[in-house]
Amino acid sequence: KANRIILAIETSCDETSVAVIRNGKQILSNVVSSQIDIHERFGGVVPEIASRKHVESITVIMEQALKESGLTLNDISAIAVTQGPGLVGALLVGIVAAKTLAMALDIPLIGTHHIAGHIYANELVAEMEYPCMALVVSGGHTELVLLESEGSFRMVGRTRDDAVGEAYDKVARALHLPYPGGPYIDRLASEAEEAIPLPRAWLEADSYDFSFSGLKSAVLAVINQTKMKGLELNEAALARGFQESVIEVLVTKALRAVKQFGAKQLLLCGGVAANRGLRASLQAKCEANQVPLLIPPLSLCTDNAAMIGAAANLKLKRGQYSGLDLKADPGLSL
Ligand code: KG4
Ligand code: ZN
Repeated sequence: KANRIILAIETSCDETSVAVIRNGKQILSNVVSSQIDIHERFGGVVPEIASRKHVESITVIMEQALKESGLTLNDISAIAVTQGPGLVGALLVGIVAAKTLAMALDIPLIGTHHIAGHIYANELVAEMEYPCMALVVSGGHTELVLLESEGSFRMVGRTRDDAVGEAYDKVARALHLPYPGGPYIDRLASEAEEAIPLPRAWLEADSYDFSFSGLKSAVLAVINQTKMKGLELNEAALARGFQESVIEVLVTKALRAVKQFGAKQLLLCGGVAANRGLRASLQAKCEANQVPLLIPPLSLCTDNAAMIGAAANLKLKRGQYSGLDLKADPGLSL
């Protein structure tokens, strides 16, 4: 079919999203309904509440996405859905909706990996060239993924404890900032005149893995010691120290990986790609090393269904369909 129209569904965490994508490239609609205001008062995503909200929203969002695309259900070639990783109850809502549609319309169902989605968000705005290296940074992920060819994923490094976004959110919480705290820390850091020095976790010399729990503990130690001594905490300087440590490690390892694996491009993906310090530092380092850097617009970096449609398009082209027995897999590997 010349016109491959995918209706994609994403419900792995706290965003209910449905998109309609043409030929893996053109976004006809991409509706995202965030639950952040609901989870905010709990200081994090409450899985049971997330599932219920997805159930309430999914059909409404689906109707809206279809309407905005200007198409009808009869124009859809395949249904894509996030299979994992994510919260199992949240994933199930999207999967049940996807199966129902695929069965009723008698069209292919395509289970998709959430991280493949974050990476292929780049294909919606640019041309990916292989081999390329993706730095995936979000509330649940911190990974360096090598793509040797289209649709082939090789994890070369990952966090051994907290994800970057998670570390940001925990540090923000310790500073009594709202959830999710990443953007607040980012802003605080940019206002700081100095940085409180904090450790960098390089791990083994040849490792592309990351670790952020030690850094988080170091931040908490500074907060506690300052309090115990009765001193006033320079929160901006602490935020900047934390951000500098995170960015230096991420950027250094990403560029080292690009070199070692001969990647033609570096792709920055996931919600933490919103971080101004990280973007600026990556841009400068990539420019200095003549490495093309791709960063999708922010609306495609945070969780959305368009990216799932883009990743699913690769499978649709190859006829890699899922059965109606597709299962949610919270720990799905790439
Ligand atoms: O990709 P995303 O929307 O959801 C997940 O799949 O996790 O990422 C959300 C994460 C949160 O942890 C949030 O604090 C973080 O991205 N984040 C930021 C910034 N904006 C969002 N972290 C640091 N700096 C930012 N400007
Ligand atoms: Zn995500």
